[in-house]
Amino acid sequence: MCGIVGYVGITPAKDILMEGLAKLEYRGYDSAGIALTDGTDDLQVVHRVGKVAELASVVDSMDLPSCCGIAHTRWATHGRPSEENAHPHRDCNGRIAVVHNGIIENYADLREELKSQGHVFASETDTETVAHLLEQYYEGDLAEAMFKAVDRLQGAYGLAAICADQPDQIVVARKDSPIVVGTDGSASMVASDMVAVMNFTRDVVFLEDGQIAVLSSDGIRYYDAPGHEVHPETTHIDWDEQAAERAGYPDFMLKEIHEQPRVVRDTLAGHLRDGRIVLEDLTLTSEELAAIDRVCIIACGTSYHAGLVARELIEKWARIPTSVEVASEFRYRDPIITSTTLVIAVSQSGETADTLAAVRLAREAGAKVFAVTNCMGSRITRESDGTLYVKANMEISVAATKSFLAQIVCLTLIALFLAQERGRLSEEEIDGLYHELCKTSPQIEKILADTSAIEEAATVLEHAHSAMYVGRGIGATVCNEGALKLKEISYLHAEAYAAGELKHGPIALIDEDVPVVAVVTQSPTREKTISNIEEVLARGAHVIAVATEGDTEITKIAEHVIYIPPIDDSFSAITASVPLQLLARFVAKARGCDVDQPRNLAKSVTVE
Ligand code: M6R
Repeated sequence: MCGIVGYVGITPAKDILMEGLAKLEYRGYDSAGIALTDGTDDLQVVHRVGKVAELASVVDSMDLPSCCGIAHTRWATHGRPSEENAHPHRDCNGRIAVVHNGIIENYADLREELKSQGHVFASETDTETVAHLLEQYYEGDLAEAMFKAVDRLQGAYGLAAICADQPDQIVVARKDSPIVVGTDGSASMVASDMVAVMNFTRDVVFLEDGQIAVLSSDGIRYYDAPGHEVHPETTHIDWDEQAAERAGYPDFMLKEIHEQPRVVRDTLAGHLRDGRIVLEDLTLTSEELAAIDRVCIIACGTSYHAGLVARELIEKWARIPTSVEVASEFRYRDPIITSTTLVIAVSQSGETADTLAAVRLAREAGAKVFAVTNCMGSRITRESDGTLYVKANMEISVAATKSFLAQIVCLTLIALFLAQERGRLSEEEIDGLYHELCKTSPQIEKILADTSAIEEAATVLEHAHSAMYVGRGIGATVCNEGALKLKEISYLHAEAYAAGELKHGPIALIDEDVPVVAVVTQSPTREKTISNIEEVLARGAHVIAVATEGDTEITKIAEHVIYIPPIDDSFSAITASVPLQLLARFVAKARGCDVDQPRNLAKSVTVE
């Protein structure tokens, strides 16, 4: 998704902005641009299609001493990727420039209105409307103009604007799109993502919807929607800076896959005390816990798949009916949510527009909503009744890996907690399960220590056009995520099916050109899955099996076997997901794909 960075201070802004853009690259984008004030009537603006490096190659050779500017990476929504459509966008006179994340829903009407007033548009974007609105309302004070402009906007926006007349000021605004600002007393920065300001300051303010901030070298002033000055709380971010670097790995995805043993340990740490699962952030009274008659998990993409694993465990241990809902569907149907529904919203970024809308809907219906997220200060944390943080630390690769495992671990703890509080599992059982769960961390280390079988298996998929992932129970949930990873980073079509469903349609696709990845670990349905593998073998499929160490029978039927250590089936999603992440990465690498920044994808999907 798009990225915003802005700097105003006492040193030249150019390098700081370019460094900020480079940090935002992981979010996914197709063009980039920068605008700087220089004390004259004009702004200096440069756009380029493609990578930030393209923009840098132009900007580096320019003399740009300005200490105030804004920059942007654009992920096309309105209008194709082109220099004209790249941000920053300017007003008719080129004196105001604006960068924007989000979507202005009423831009077409505003554009017509502004055109009829004589404004001339240079791009196809919704964002340019904001530049012309600011021009329309500008009477010598950019902040005043911003108040009037945002009043006319419908949709979602994180905005940062500069004006040639006020060369040492950046005005920012937000609604439903993240904006973080920070100051060190001699300079101030704005960004759409913490990662772009982390080197500058760790003490930041996450702007609230409707707020406007005016940044200068002296500091930042904040205003609420009616224009009253406010003094929002500062949040200290303690993320590990190293997390943003590759630490010697060829890509962030591999680095993050290798961090998973630590992530699992950290997410589990401290949650078993005196034989009981303790989740202080799940702030429910015993009456509320006893009254829960349904759990509803809402999420998108990979987070949704973590929810599918959680459903298996909550129903199995706590015996509470559980549904998992794709947030973009949930928000537009008429879901049955009551005050006795426990809603769990899962989102790595905490900024996913559909998940946030679903959270609001659930709360309006009277439910308590708890967020499971990786991002401190993200929108979801402020819109929920409580937040359980997963301990993945910053995830840079667009394809989620470590955050997914951390989500599963956190949701597993919630399942154990609910079972404990509802008296469904004894202290002894909880203790046993928790200690089994802890084994997944060293087991992942073992899987990562030798990935040769996975690399070999990848050769089967490398030249395929389509692949099928099958499994049952927890294995089926793992397949959903395995297939998504393959699609996302290798651009190879993949489908995931519950193995028992194959014969109801998808088996028609199977032949020697459609490899089948089967998750067939030790579980009550292992034999059934073996029968399904036989069925695809009979149709000529090449089979890659993820199986439990010691299962020699599988080598007789599968062309490639990837072994994982034995673990209670309830926790097999954690370990079995790891080889599938690596499999997708090996295939993507062999196909020459950029695994960290897959095409068309964004790290944080802040538009509907
Ligand atoms: O930040 P969220 O977890 O809410 O994001 C949801 C999805 O957009 C995300 O999981 C997406 O599927 C990723 N590309 C997964 O790799």
